[in-house]
Amino acid sequence: MLSVVFVVSTTMVACTSDPGVRSARADPAISGPATVPPPETTPAPPGTTTPSAPSTVPMPASTVPGMVPTDDGAGDLLFPSLGNPGIDVLHYDVGISYDPDRDAIDGVVGLDLLLTEPRAEITLDAVNLKTWEVTVNGQAVAAQDDSPELRIPLPTPGAAGEQLRVEVTYSVEPSPMDSPIGFPNSWFNTEGGSYVLNEPDGARGWMPCNDHPSDKASYTFTVRVPAGTVAVANGELVEQRNDGALDVWVWQEDRPMTTYLILLLTGDYEIITDTGPDGLPLIHAVLRSDVEQMQPYLDITPEMIEFFDDLFGPYPLDRYGLAFSDSFGGLAMETQERSLFSRDDFTGEMGEYQETFLAHELVHQYYGNAVSPARWQDIWLNESFATYGEWLWMEHAGYFTVDDQANLVLAQRPPGSSADPSVQEMFGFNSYMGGAIVLHALRLTVGDDAFFEMLRRWAAENNGESRTTQQFITFAEESTGQSLTDFFDTWLFADRPPDEFPNG
Ligand code: ARG
Ligand code: ZN
Repeated sequence: MLSVVFVVSTTMVACTSDPGVRSARADPAISGPATVPPPETTPAPPGTTTPSAPSTVPMPASTVPGMVPTDDGAGDLLFPSLGNPGIDVLHYDVGISYDPDRDAIDGVVGLDLLLTEPRAEITLDAVNLKTWEVTVNGQAVAAQDDSPELRIPLPTPGAAGEQLRVEVTYSVEPSPMDSPIGFPNSWFNTEGGSYVLNEPDGARGWMPCNDHPSDKASYTFTVRVPAGTVAVANGELVEQRNDGALDVWVWQEDRPMTTYLILLLTGDYEIITDTGPDGLPLIHAVLRSDVEQMQPYLDITPEMIEFFDDLFGPYPLDRYGLAFSDSFGGLAMETQERSLFSRDDFTGEMGEYQETFLAHELVHQYYGNAVSPARWQDIWLNESFATYGEWLWMEHAGYFTVDDQANLVLAQRPPGSSADPSVQEMFGFNSYMGGAIVLHALRLTVGDDAFFEMLRRWAAENNGESRTTQQFITFAEESTGQSLTDFFDTWLFADRPPDEFPNG
């Protein structure tokens, strides 16, 4: 195993006196005197750094093949109460005031949504609400808390295709929630602030929403925190202002995003800007006390993006970055356009553990974030792809070969199909490594050229959408020009894969 040495950048600029924004580079054109990047008035033309513009017609849950919505759920086999029938959220305005002393949120979530069928009532996913008031197109309605649903009668029955503005004014005292996956998720208050970890069912614990990955939307986050505190969400910082005792941070995510990919941090952060390959903006969030410690991880990021650009196609979103929260160790999450890690996992030297985490969450920006799973049982489309990408990086960095790793994993794999996990297994061996060997077997079956071409096209052509395993298989057959029914029956759906790789 090669040991890889990374030189800590000596070009860091001195901290500015702003509440947390600076550049990673000494280049005055980048760092500048500005305390906060000015709002971007002219958005970059679509396609400059990315293969396709965000889709304007997100797929409503009810059109996902194989998913039959229930009375108040999208029809997810693993999470029947998640999602809501008859709605397609286009945009969320998430406005929250967070008081860390009381661990309390006062919020207003505005949703621009389309009805996908005639409805007299809609539901949203919401648990733990202390208070709630709802308007539809500006008209107050008598919404009912029927946790985990918020039932919202429409002032007049709506037709399919009708667009509504729903605003929920609410309060919650958010906390980590038990999830059937076996780990807590939702909102975490920490010593130095807070963070969210929503995957798969935690977003509804702190904001009313359509909490299912089949429904992607754009977001504006307006977060009010005590003056001197920094709030970080997905996307781009478009405004930062002071409002007496509070600071207001406004972040905008234009790319279609699922609720489980929301990033929301509060604390003593610095926002560090940098530039990646092809001018890709990098926006990192690092605790002020950790800036020096995290520099090697920020420094390796452009190189990693470049590596995956070559394999998987142009980086599919508008920006990237790393965020290191004061969360418990072992946490890593592919929050959209800015992945979330625990500072505790990045205290020592750069090594196998750190590179694995960094590569894994970066690959998710293609597989999971650009193209998302339509149902939670399709989670291998996220985790196996990110695991395989992680192996490709580790081979490149000299830690091990993909072939050796795949053979080790094949020998250890427990029985069970990667495409049919139980809720408790969703984040288990077969969703990660067990499915990564399916991809390795596919690569050996169709050859490198067809395999990587197919992976590139999968992210680029489905960017902004949510897809099922069956849609992936159909796509793989079309892209490679091969009938793969037997392959997927043998490698993906069977309880046990063959003992050896094809053509190995
Ligand atoms: N998607 C994350 C990853 O990259 C795992 C998140 C698991 N969820 C949780 N609540 N811990 O592997
Ligand atoms: Zn993952």
